[in-house]
Amino acid sequence: MSKGRVSVVVLGDVGRSPRMQYHSLSLANEGFIVDLIGYSGSELIRELQEHPNVTLRYVPSCPDFQSKFPRLFGYVLKVLWQILSLMTVLFCKRRSDYLLVQNPPAIPTLAVCWIYCVLMRSKYIIDWHNYAYTILALSVGNESILVKFSKWFEGWFGRRANANLCVTKALKMDLEQNHRIIATTLYDRPPDCFHPVPLQTSHNLFKKLSEKYEIFGSSDETKTAFTEIKTDGVISLREDRPGLLVSSTSWTEDEDFNILLSALQLYEEMCQTSACALPPLICVITGKGPLKQYYCELIDNAQWKNVKVVTPWLHPSDYPQLLASADLGVCLHMSSSGLDLPMKVADMFGCGLPVCAHTFKCLNELIQHEKNSYVFSTSDELSSQIQSWFKDFPNNSSQKEICHYFKEELAKYRSLRWHENWKLSTSSLFL
Ligand SMILES: *[C@@H]1O[C@H](CO)[C@@H](O)[C@H](O)[C@H]1NC(C)=O
Ligand SMILES: *[C@@H]1O[C@H](CO)[C@@H](O)[C@H](O)[C@H]1NC(C)=O
Ligand SMILES: *[C@@H]1O[C@H](CO)[C@@H](O)[C@H](O)[C@H]1NC(C)=O
Ligand SMILES: *[C@@H]1O[C@H](CO)[C@@H](O)[C@H](O)[C@H]1NC(C)=O
Repeated sequence: MSKGRVSVVVLGDVGRSPRMQYHSLSLANEGFIVDLIGYSGSELIRELQEHPNVTLRYVPSCPDFQSKFPRLFGYVLKVLWQILSLMTVLFCKRRSDYLLVQNPPAIPTLAVCWIYCVLMRSKYIIDWHNYAYTILALSVGNESILVKFSKWFEGWFGRRANANLCVTKALKMDLEQNHRIIATTLYDRPPDCFHPVPLQTSHNLFKKLSEKYEIFGSSDETKTAFTEIKTDGVISLREDRPGLLVSSTSWTEDEDFNILLSALQLYEEMCQTSACALPPLICVITGKGPLKQYYCELIDNAQWKNVKVVTPWLHPSDYPQLLASADLGVCLHMSSSGLDLPMKVADMFGCGLPVCAHTFKCLNELIQHEKNSYVFSTSDELSSQIQSWFKDFPNNSSQKEICHYFKEELAKYRSLRWHENWKLSTSSLFL
């Protein structure tokens, strides 16, 4: 007997919404029949694709009205399209007992889902990842009428929900204080594919990457830039390896990439002074986005000798391995509301990789400065964190101790898995 039917709705690329996929999987594994509704694009996690009780229903994606029509008119057309297409998908399937929707996007999703739940007498649950109006404010300014409308819209329809989940304690407090919405905090957890890897895996990854990016390799067949096969066949880290720094970015305006570039510039200048005891650094930056070209030119023009920046294309399964093989991660994410947490840090933590992360209001719910990672606000701070991490690398025993301590903390973080946590937080929602 199934416990009931649940629609999980995200008006975005379902494949790029890990959290809603985990909700779906947990629900299905707890005996619910799940309809997962959203846009197509990226692939889903395999367990979901294969699960007999999960049906994926794609909402037809929106034609590009906004480039063909004046801005506001294009926006109205887009919203109308979304209302009709989402309605069609929701009503052309068997009735759901529950509907769990991701916010943002808020307009028109929250309204459409509410109408569905009223008509079908379903239980309406919102999962708050952030406020849509704060994201909108980034592009149109916080005085815009659209932002004010969005804020009202989220509050009004938010209060119509039977239950609410959210991603941080800070967001829970804000929902309560500013919108009189009571929510339960359910933290994100890294997907299972983000875990530490053995040296063999790192070695193979560097070998593979070196076919396209010479910098990962070595002229010696038994070596990569970081690892080597000893005469007894054992793979070990090279004594003379460079430091490996990774960052992932969407190359957009809301991540100030100049902070990392200035920090690397300082590192380079430090290397040129004598007796610095700093290793050369390889900085791998992954991700696609509009400002990539612009920053790559800046990097090329810098002509650093001790710092090399690579922006490789990575196969999705290589990314977790790269994180697990690196020495230090960098996160430049700035939250639009200060109330959500960067998923990429959770992923890095899953791989046992400590990070330097740009500070914002609720980051301390994930990162404890100098306990499991570092928090910075300026490029000078970031640079000195990188320098102290790599001082006398890889021979610095006090540094090794710090690293070991951080990694133990991250192992504790990793030991709490999504599903157990999910069951605790949602036990009263799906009855
Ligand atoms: C799918 O749902 C049916 C009941 O509707 C249940 O008997 C079966 O065990 C479920 N399958 C899985 C893999 O959970
Ligand atoms: C709106 O933005 C201005 C400056 O960009 C800022 O000073 C102000 O505090 C913001 N207002 C709100 C309500 O966030
Ligand atoms: C080792 O690392 C610690 C902590 O980063 C640093 O204070 C110290 O100067 C380093 N030792 C050497 C010999 O570089
Ligand atoms: C670290 O120590 C090893 C062995 O003691 C030595 O071969 C290597 O050159 C040292 N590396 C650096 C960067 O000092």
